[in-house]
Parts: sequence; structure tokens; C-alpha cells
Amino acid sequence: MTFSPADLRALRADFPALARRRNGKPPVYLNNTCMTLRPRAVIDAVTRYYTDFPTCGGGRSEGARKLHSWFAEELQAEEASAREALARFVNAARPDELVWTRNATEALNIVAHGFPLVPGDRVLLSEREHNSNLVPWLEAERRLRAEAGDPRLEVVGTFDLAPDGAFDLARALAAIRPGVKVVALGHASNLDGTTIPDADLRAVADAVHRVGGVLVLDGAQSVPHRRVDVRALGVDFLAFSLHKMCGPSGVGALYGRYDRLERVAPFVVGGDTVRDTWHDRVVYKPPPARFEAGLQDYAGFLGAAAAVDYVTRRVGLDAIAAHERALNRRLTERLLPLENDRFWLLGPRDPELRGGIVTLTSPVGGLLNAIERIGDVEHNLMLRKGMFCVNAYLHRRFDAAGTAKNNLRASMYLYSTEEEVDLFASVVERVVRDPLAYLDDA
Ligand SMILES: Cc1ncc(COP(=O)(O)O)c(C=O)c1O
Repeated sequence: MTFSPADLRALRADFPALARRRNGKPPVYLNNTCMTLRPRAVIDAVTRYYTDFPTCGGGRSEGARKLHSWFAEELQAEEASAREALARFVNAARPDELVWTRNATEALNIVAHGFPLVPGDRVLLSEREHNSNLVPWLEAERRLRAEAGDPRLEVVGTFDLAPDGAFDLARALAAIRPGVKVVALGHASNLDGTTIPDADLRAVADAVHRVGGVLVLDGAQSVPHRRVDVRALGVDFLAFSLHKMCGPSGVGALYGRYDRLERVAPFVVGGDTVRDTWHDRVVYKPPPARFEAGLQDYAGFLGAAAAVDYVTRRVGLDAIAAHERALNRRLTERLLPLENDRFWLLGPRDPELRGGIVTLTSPVGGLLNAIERIGDVEHNLMLRKGMFCVNAYLHRRFDAAGTAKNNLRASMYLYSTEEEVDLFASVVERVVRDPLAYLDDA
């Protein structure tokens, strides 16, 4: 089901930023992979913290309420219900499986830093992980090498995707051998939108569990766009960011199956992570408190709960996914006939496999610069150009073709319209049809 024009107008009216005008024209926001816009309900929830109970919510999550005071008790109740809302959203078994973080990156760092690994253990990634799901594991590798005194110790390994960038289950399963303690995968790609199908993910989870390892899922690009049920998928850890799903900036979450979370050593430590301290000894609180050091972004928690409510109840994740698919189909049908040896689309040809993402690539950097510039200056079109934090994959696959650094991405969300994607397509068409007129952008 996609939205009727009236529904879409009503949804767009929820987003104050869409009412802005520059040169008499509205924003055309197609950079949703990075951050989405925010609806009034989320902005109001954040403001409610600062207006109603702008205090600290100490003594969190152990049932031991430290602060018996009017504002603190109200805030603690709000925080508990926000945590419950997020836990329910991903179908966690209990609220304590949900750790507040600043973003998906921090969530992944917590696991990579604190999950018990010893020299000889292996970590398996796909060849196309976001830097946030690559660099923390490379750091873990560096630590294990130092521990083993062996600078060549193999810890991190990768398996290949299909030639078009789609997930390749057979290759993944072939790489999951005894010794693999962690498989860490991006659920949906921020580069080309490809998503690991549920059945494949479940098969990976079963395989890694059989060899005694865990599955870590980077859900930054899936959780905002489709239903993600950690228990149905057999996921042990899931990282996501609220700012990619209508929530406040700098709020994210780590889901961890409780018995897995208990095995993770805390990363950033200090106030609120400990039960008690002496000068020579520390007793940490159980999860999730042991991972939530210092005073927290309480306004962000309220905003996070409002964002979950917005995408699930006001809009609906199935409707979001269907809307993005329909827009992607429309845009892809406009762009495919324009492809030539100076410009083409990344990822699978079938738009159904690319969620709400269309990425153009080119050996001629100036072509994409021109599309971005004309889009911005003439139409307030907001896109994203570059390597999108998947440098390692792009270098590996496309350095030889000279396209690794030349990518331009349009990414859609629930409020995107046919008119907006048509506008983008018309700018691409204009530049691609007459490239010589624009190549001074090179
Ligand atoms: C696939 C993927 N993983 C992780 C991240 C990191 O998210 P954040 O910057 O919110 O931590 C992103 C951000 O774009 C992403 O696209």
C-alpha cells in the first residue's frame, strides 16, 4: 500500500522543515540515508523534557530509585517507558536488552570493544561494511595482535557479495567456520540499498550459532525502513540510530540478547555504570546500566519514543517500505534508459532490491558535481556525494574503473514525493544528455 496524495500531504505537514522556502521554492530533501527530517511530534517531545522536568534521571534501570523528587520521578517514568517502546519496536524479550547510545556507531563500538575475544578467534564481515562496522573490528584485531605478540595474526576476514552487490548467502555460509566468534553485517546498505533477505539472515544466524559465535547486525539503514524482529531473525546484537528515523540527532540504541549483553565488558565507564567503588575495586551494575555512563540525553530519549510512535503508528513501517519501493521503481525507470559509458546506477538493476536508494556513479567526477550543483542552486535538491563511509568496498571494487570516489546518492523516506524524484531525474537527464555544457564542474 502506498499513500494517497491526501495522506502524503498530511504527512508532509507534520514536518516543519518542509514548509521552508528558499528562492520561493521548497526543500527537496533526498539525503534521508544520512539523517531524516523530524516531525513536530518529535520536536515537541524533546522540548517537553526541557520545559517540564529538566533534571537528571539518576539510579536508572536497577529498580533502585536514587532520587525521590517530583521532577526526577516523572523523568524516570518517561525514560523507562521510552526504553520499553524501543525494546518493543525491535521485539526484544525485555526492556533491559536495550542500551541507549549516541548512535549506531557507538553501539557497534560497545560490542567490538567489549565482546570477549581471544587470539585465534575470528570476526567475519561482508566486503561492504560501513566504516562504523569495520573500523571497530579492525581495532579489536589490533588489540588481539598486540596481546598475541603477532602483528600478522588474522582476526578480521571478509566474504564477497554477488557481482551486483546483493547479499550472497552461499558465500557467507561457506565462510562461517569453527573459530568464527562474531559475524557482523550491515542489514541494508547505505551505498546501494540492498538488504539481506530475512531467510538468509536467519540462515546466517543459525550457522554462526552452530559454531558458537554471535550475529551482530548493523541496522542503521534497515530499522528505519522495515520491520526488524531480533528474535525472529536470531540476531544477538542490533545497532541503530534514531536520527535516521525521524528521531533526535545523536540518539541511538544497542539491542543485545540479555545473556550476550552480560558477556560484554563496559566501554566508557564512570558515574551510573557502577554499583559501588573502593580505591582498588569496582563493582559494575548489570546491563544496560553498565553501558550508560554519566548523565544522559534525556530529551533525546523522549524524542526517540516519539519517533518510534511516529513511524510505527502514525505512518507504519510496511507503508514506508512500500512507498519507498514505488518511488524507487519510478526513478529507476527514468534513469536506466539514460545510462551510458559516463554514468550508470550502482547495485542491482531491480529497484525492488534497493529500498529507497538510488546511487549514480561515473568515471567523470564533473558530471555528478554538475547534477549536485544544478539540483542545489535551481531546485533546493539535497543529495549526497562521495564514498559514503564504505571506502574499503569502493576501493576494492572500483579503483580500477576510476569510479570509486564518484558517487551521487538520492535517498527517499516516507515524505518523499513523485514530483521530487521526477525533479531529480530531470536534472540528471539534462546533464547526461549534454555533458559538455557542464563539465567545467570537473
Ligand atoms: C549502514 C550504516 N551503518 C552505520 C552507520 C552509522 O550511523 P551513525 O552515524 O548514526 O552512527 C550508517 C550511517 O550512515 C550507515 O549507513
